[in-house]
Order: sequence, then structure tokens, then C-alpha cells
Amino acid sequence: MNIRPRRNRKSAVIRAMVEETKLGVENLIYPVFLKDGKNIKEEVASMPGNYRWSVDKLLPEIETCVELGVRSFDLFPAVDESLKDKTGTYSWSSDNFYLHAIRAIKERFPEVMLMSDVALDPYSSDGHDGLVENGKILNDETLPLLNNMSLAQAQAGIDIIGPSDMMDGRIASIREHLDANGYTEVSIMSYTAKYASAFYGPFRDALNSAPKSGDKKTYQMNPANKREALIEAELDINEGADMIMVKPAMCYLDVIHLLKETFPVPVTAYNVSGECAMIHAAAKNGWLNYEAAVYETLLSIKRAGADGILTYFAKDFAQMTQR
Ligand code: PBG
Repeated sequence: MNIRPRRNRKSAVIRAMVEETKLGVENLIYPVFLKDGKNIKEEVASMPGNYRWSVDKLLPEIETCVELGVRSFDLFPAVDESLKDKTGTYSWSSDNFYLHAIRAIKERFPEVMLMSDVALDPYSSDGHDGLVENGKILNDETLPLLNNMSLAQAQAGIDIIGPSDMMDGRIASIREHLDANGYTEVSIMSYTAKYASAFYGPFRDALNSAPKSGDKKTYQMNPANKREALIEAELDINEGADMIMVKPAMCYLDVIHLLKETFPVPVTAYNVSGECAMIHAAAKNGWLNYEAAVYETLLSIKRAGADGILTYFAKDFAQMTQR
């Protein structure tokens, strides 16, 4: 044998020198759940180490994260059932605790990046991302509602809007509405290839946002389809998306790779709640090494082509790579 690939793996120094993929905490966005009230830190049962926070408790947690190098956060509101309605009016109400929380966080930590979901589901009495009428999720009628939600978030100081609703035409609609109101600097990271996935279960438990009837298959993508992601990406980019996202991540590495190879905009991936829960469950049983599995998972998503990764492991990753 004159070619022996093992020679490039023979010491830690050589392995580090030829390592192709670098993953750092700066690539990670940490999703966190917010709840109205004071002194609240409730663990999400299926996602150990992830909590619903009231803003007073979240501020010191953000400080800890920032010290660890985690400086990007995606905030999700757990909304009281009594405040939900068909059109999600609470999402742009001046009383909305979540919008107040964004302001409070930005005031205390102006340097952090705050991102926010745009979709009706946490605010909708139907639990769908769009407006429901006679069992149908209406597309064009949903757009003005998403515009209102986006503008309210922009006014509260959000850095990146993340439309996760999968309505057609929503990126153009939101972009125009933000620009018309002077928010040209607010970015859009579009949930571009968002699949109708079985892996969102723990997230819907965290926010109590599961659909009351029907499923999300008429707007989220079919897991069988890859080429269709090209259509979605082209539309989103032409409509004004600054970054495009694939979601979930672990089962969709091929889609991440395809979009990264095809389009010049940054590609991100959402390592979703069910993917996080699986690793925790196996680790708890002693079937996987938690830290090794987390590292390999995030590294693989980066290797597939993701520039940024939304992941519930962000804080743990920061902690384990600092040791
Ligand atoms: C809401 C939304 C969902 C997630 C992010 N934004 C759930 C859904 O579409 O039902 C899932 C995130 C996760 O599972 O971690 N539109």
C-alpha cells in the first residue's frame, strides 16, 4: 500500500490540522421559551435543561449565556389560552408580554442578536400557523396578520424575523410592510424548507400550540420532497429573504447541502425539539454519550452546509467546548 489514509489521523495535532469543518459557538442560535409572569423557570418535560422563563429570570440566564459566548437567541412565547383567538390579535397587542420582554432584553443586552418566529400558532385558538376557516388554512388572508405581527416585533427591537408559517408570498408581504414602516434594517431568516415533521412534538408541548384539528400538511412540506425545496428557496430569496432555513436538520442534511450548493445566501438549519429529546432520552438510558452525540450532531449539520444552527444544545455546547 502506498496510500494509507490513517497516516492523516495518527495524532491529535495532525487530526486538528486537517479538520475540514469548524464549529464554534458563534454558529449557534439558542431557542428559548418565554412565559408571562414573575419568578418562573419551568422545565419542559421532554427537553431537559430547557425552560419556560419569565423575563426577570431570563435576564440573568442570558447574561450567563453571553459569558459562555452564546450571543444569538430565538424567543418563543407560551401564551395563555384565554388570550388566543382566530386571528392572533394578541401577537401585536401593546399588552403582549413577549414584546415587552424583547424590549427589556435589548435594553439590558444591546449587543445580543434576538430572533423571533412569525406564525399564528402560539397565538391561535386553532393552533395553526395561518387563519382557519371551515377547516381550511387560508393563505392570502393570513398575510396581513403576519405583517402586523412582524411590525410589532420590529418595533420591539427584534434583529431577525423568522417567518415559520409557510404561507405563499409571506416574505414579500412582510418585507414590504417592514420597509414601508421604516424597518429596512430588520433581517428576514425565512423558514424556507420547513417540513411537516414528527419531530416538533416537544416544542408544541412547550408552547401548548398543537393544532386543535387537522394537520399542517397543506402548508408544511412533504418529507419526501427535496427538489421542491429549490422552488421555496428561489421564491424566498427573490422575495427578500436574507437567509434561508431548513427544518428539521438531522433527517434533512441532504436538503441543507442542496440549498447551500445552489444559492449564495447563508443557509441555516433548525435542530428541532424532537431531535433534542431523542438524544436526551437515549443518554438518560445510558445508550448514548450525551456530549459526544451533541457534538457530532451539530458538527454534521455544519458539515452538510449550515452556516448557522438553531439548537437547544447551544448552552451545553458552549459549556462543553470551554472545558
Ligand atoms: C411554529 C414553529 C414550530 C417550530 C418552530 N416554529 C412548530 C410547528 O410548526 O408546529 C418547531 C421547533 C421545534 O420543534 O423545535 N410555527
